[in-house]
Amino acid sequence: MDIDKNKIVTSNFDIPADRIDLSIGQPGTSLLPLEALAQAAEHCLTRDNPYILAYGAEQGNWYFHNVLAGFLSEKYKLSVDPDHLFTTTGISQGLDFICSLFTRPGDTIFVEEPTYSLALGIFADHRLNVVGLPMDEDGIIIEAIEEELAYQTPVFLYTIPTFHNPTGGTLSETRRKKMVELSQEYNFLIAADEVYQLLAYKGTPPRAMAKYIEAATVLSLGSFSKILAPGLRLGWIQTHPELMKKLTTNGMVYSGGGLNPFTSAIVQSAIELGLQEKQLSHLKEVYQQRKNALNTSLRKNLPDSVSFIEPDGGFFTWLQLPQRVDAEKLLSEAHRHDVAFAPGSFFSPRQDLKNYLRLSFAYYEEPELKEGAKRLAAAIKRQLS
Ligand SMILES: Cc1ncc(COP(=O)(O)O)c(C=O)c1O
Repeated sequence: MDIDKNKIVTSNFDIPADRIDLSIGQPGTSLLPLEALAQAAEHCLTRDNPYILAYGAEQGNWYFHNVLAGFLSEKYKLSVDPDHLFTTTGISQGLDFICSLFTRPGDTIFVEEPTYSLALGIFADHRLNVVGLPMDEDGIIIEAIEEELAYQTPVFLYTIPTFHNPTGGTLSETRRKKMVELSQEYNFLIAADEVYQLLAYKGTPPRAMAKYIEAATVLSLGSFSKILAPGLRLGWIQTHPELMKKLTTNGMVYSGGGLNPFTSAIVQSAIELGLQEKQLSHLKEVYQQRKNALNTSLRKNLPDSVSFIEPDGGFFTWLQLPQRVDAEKLLSEAHRHDVAFAPGSFFSPRQDLKNYLRLSFAYYEEPELKEGAKRLAAAIKRQLS
């Protein structure tokens, strides 16, 4: 088959030829591990185990969970029990599933404001009443949760605790603990999206929210999308047996069995062969270099009235523009400079945060990131003048 190597032929986005689109929050094609997965697939398909192609156990394959628990125990520096893991086809499906099982249309949930824009689409599908609560440099503000709890209790609070999308910030340990205490006191769940937990480039973030699953209010969602490959569509939910019961006793898993038994067997091999570990180290090195390239160029080129805090991990840098600049309008000017970004309003349930924008350093290589930052700075200066 003749495939244009410069184009992801099955991609979910399309970029005009000369544009550097810094809104793309996924790895570039050079980071997708074809060889490692060919090796892992060969390993798992020649083990004489036809069960990987049969309907799977409702919770997921125990052998996969056992290997995943070993990997997570080492990475999270927590003892992870394989029986506390449920296989998903990624965090997006995990969130949709949690909404299906725990909410009814019209129910209230709390989210951070800003939050992951595409999760807002999932919550809209379930017709949930989404209440955004403010954040500062230490994550969601606990007093704001308490104030809102005086009026209403959510079914769950959705948080991205580590290397947040879009802000890049991390919820402090003190606030994590307090959030869990509140969930127990007011009887709501916490859906913790820990997709960037293992992508630290500087220092060590607080332990994953998985640390708190004993509280029986926490669902910790993980994914292979950012540490191996998004096309695998494979992730997990780690939770207490009480909540696990709900995940494993419902029409969907009774009908189709556990999710993704075949892919989970391949990824099990990738972990066992040390390929996951190798890929993660490689990604961390590359992303750190990309982050430095983008942020150094931003510092050099942006006007003083634009600020940002360099993230210690994850995929994103979040810029604050002068109050009078509307990032959605700036985007048209940016397109004229052959550059793009995600405007702040995308990440707000009220389409607020108009003077913010998000840049991703995951997709492009260093020269394009530097050039992209230059073009963005030129577009901002033009808009300000
Ligand atoms: C915060 C956050 N959650 C979830 C996802 C999607 O995860 P998955 O590919 O596992 O569905 C992303 C991808 O950008 C993300 O940034």
